Amino acid sequence: MTMIENYLNKIHHGDCLELFKHIPDNSIDVTFADPPFNLKKNYTSYADSLEFQEYLNWCEKWISEMVRVTKPTGSIFLHNIPKWLTYYATYLNKFAYFKHWIAWDAPTAPMGKSLQPSHYGILFYTKKEKGAKIYELRHPHKRDRKHGYLLKDYGGKKDGLHPFGPLVSDVWTDIHRIKHNTKRDPHPCQLPIHLMDRILLMTTDEGDIVLDPFSGTGTTAISAKRLGRNYIGFELDENYIEISQEKLEKTKPNFKIGESWVSFYLNSIVTIRNNDWNNLSRYFKIPNPLRNIDFEKTTLIDKKLIPNEIEHPLLEVSKNLTKINGKKVIGNENKKFSHAYSQDKQANA
Ligand SMILES: C[S@@+](CC[C@H](N)C(=O)[O-])C[C@H]1O[C@@H](n2cnc3c(N)ncnc32)[C@H](O)[C@@H]1O
Repeated sequence: MTMIENYLNKIHHGDCLELFKHIPDNSIDVTFADPPFNLKKNYTSYADSLEFQEYLNWCEKWISEMVRVTKPTGSIFLHNIPKWLTYYATYLNKFAYFKHWIAWDAPTAPMGKSLQPSHYGILFYTKKEKGAKIYELRHPHKRDRKHGYLLKDYGGKKDGLHPFGPLVSDVWTDIHRIKHNTKRDPHPCQLPIHLMDRILLMTTDEGDIVLDPFSGTGTTAISAKRLGRNYIGFELDENYIEISQEKLEKTKPNFKIGESWVSFYLNSIVTIRNNDWNNLSRYFKIPNPLRNIDFEKTTLIDKKLIPNEIEHPLLEVSKNLTKINGKKVIGNENKKFSHAYSQDKQANA
C-alpha cells in the first residue's frame, strides 16, 4: 500500500485491478465507474454463457475494489445501461447500501421490437447504511424553449416556488448526452462533465477525493478539479490519458460563486446545493413579484461571475492522435469510428 497523497490528482496508466492494489482501504470519498462493455457476441440466451459470466466476474472484482477503498461516509456510483445494472445491484446489495437508481434520460440505440431504451442508469450506493455525506440539490425551472414559460403548471402556487428551481429528483432529464462530434473528444462514450458535477456536488465537499477506475478522457477528473476536489483516475489507453492531461492543465478550480461551488454548462448554472441558496441568492436577480417567475427567469446579476469553460481540445489534440483502442484514426475517421463504436456497444449489450 502507498500513501494516498502520491496518487492524488493524476490519471494513472494501467489496468484498474492492478492499480487498485495501491489504494488503501477506506481512503476515497466517492468512487464512480463508467465501465466498458467488453462482450463480443450478441447473446439471446446469455445467462449460462461463459463469456457473459466472465465479464460479470471481472465486473465483480473492480466493484469490490470500489467498495473496499470507499470511506465509511462515502458513496459508490455505477453508470451503465439498465441490463448490466441489474447484475451490479444484485452483487452490491450484499455489501453496500442502495440509495437510488438514477434514470438519466438519454436516448440509446434501438435494441429490438420491445420498448425503446431511453435512459442510462446510475446506481447510487453508500458504503454504510447511515452517516453518508449526501446533499440535496436544485436545478433551474424547466421552461418552454420558444416562449420561456414554466413547463409545469403550478396554478396559483407560483408565489411559493423556489426562486432558483426545484429539488433534483432521481430522474435527470436536463442533461443531454454529447451527440455532436465537435463537442467531444475523440472518445466514443464520453460523459457530459455537468453530469459528473451533479454527482460530486451531491456527495463530496471541497478537498474530498474522487476515484474513477475507467477514466476515459478524464471527465470525472475535470469535474473534480473545477469543483475544488481531488481526483484519482485509472485508464488503460495512453491516448485518452494524453487528452485528459491537456484538458486538466487548462482546468482551474473556479466553478464557484462567492463561497459556493456550482455547476455551469454553456454559461448557465445547471446544479446548486440546496443549502447554498442562502449565500447564492444575493448574486441573482429574482423576479419580483415571484409569481412572474412564470415567464421571467432568475438570472445572475453579473455575467462576469461565469467562469470560462475549457476550450474543446478535439482539434488540437486529435491532430496528434493516431490510434484509439489500437485502431488507426485520422481526421474524419474519428467520426466514423465513434459512430461504429457506439453502435457496437449497444448491439453487444
Ligand atoms: C466507457 S469509457 C469511460 C468514459 C469516461 N466516463 C469519459 O467520460 O471519458 C471506459 C474506459 O475504460 C478504459 N478501460 C477499459 N478497460 C480498462 C481497465 N481494465 N483498466 C482501466 N481502464 C480500462 C477504456 O480505455 C475506456 O476509456
